[in-house]
Amino acid sequence: MADINSAVEAINEIGFLDIDIDPSIDLFAEIEKLKKEKNAVILAHYYQEPDIQDVADFIGDSLGLAQEAEKTKADIIVFAGVHFMAETAKILNPAKKVLLPDLKAGCSLSDSAPPPLFKLFKEKHPNHKVITYINCSAGIKALSDIICTSTNAQKIVESLPADQPIIFAPDKNLGAYINKQTGRNMLLWNGACMVHEIFSLEKITKLKIRHPKAEVIAHPECEEPILRIADFIGSTTGLLNYTRKSGVQEFIVATETGILHQMQKYSPDKTFIPAPPDNSCACNDCPHMKLNTLEKLYLCLKYELPEIEMDEELRIAARIPIDEMLKISAEYGL
Ligand code: 13P
Ligand code: SF4
Repeated sequence: MADINSAVEAINEIGFLDIDIDPSIDLFAEIEKLKKEKNAVILAHYYQEPDIQDVADFIGDSLGLAQEAEKTKADIIVFAGVHFMAETAKILNPAKKVLLPDLKAGCSLSDSAPPPLFKLFKEKHPNHKVITYINCSAGIKALSDIICTSTNAQKIVESLPADQPIIFAPDKNLGAYINKQTGRNMLLWNGACMVHEIFSLEKITKLKIRHPKAEVIAHPECEEPILRIADFIGSTTGLLNYTRKSGVQEFIVATETGILHQMQKYSPDKTFIPAPPDNSCACNDCPHMKLNTLEKLYLCLKYELPEIEMDEELRIAARIPIDEMLKISAEYGL
């Protein structure tokens, strides 16, 4: 028993190693079989690697994934995304087993808001309501009034009276964009996403010259100079839907490259060019999202590890602003 407990502890701490797998196994078939046997569902974010997207039961943005997690009838949720997303699924489903293929799949944006510091900041502004982007820890959610995602942020902000002072955290770029869209003057926490801050305005401008018919489409986590030159700004679902409906044939895509898989699938005749980063590495791959692999997903489903666990008091407190977001989103048909 002691051996099993220490093996579980080790997997929760260091994760699975891909080398544990017999290379002759058909992972796609095995994952399908395990899903049925265990009544499990795989929820994947658009930034996951293509193989993971292809075995997922639902692929979506942060809002779609939270909505899907809330209504699933599965006994096990395998969350192919990052920690705050799986944690949100657990907050909504305390009785279900929620698994994350690699527990170390974090988020730079979430890390930019440590709860003790944010609590002090909030205490300095007692008359402010706190609207928090879902890319944050349960500790930050528990300190918030309403959660939002990039799909519903504008509507959530507009749901509060125009004269209500608001703290917006943790993404300063999304916050500044929403301030501009709504004419509000929300107080912004100084956080940012390492992937969306890396795009080079100069290189995108040069690409535009080489591809004059291409449109620049950008996620609102990008910095203001990139958003200023964008033809369309939206969440991952917003960007995907835009490329599906648009008559334009070529797009320069300023967000994480994982989304290109679905864009290309829905519009095989269109061209999608990843917006170049400021240096020569593949920095518009999110290193956290890409910690999950098909191999780890298979092992995670097989052994039902690593599992998200949460303190119940924290979970209850963190659920209140998520429920508020889901309620407002449903009112707007989002
Ligand atoms: P959305 O999928 O909600 O657009 O969020 C993007 C993101 O950065 C998730 O980590
Ligand atoms: Fe976090 Fe950015 Fe990665 Fe999304 S893309 S998980 S916001 S670091």
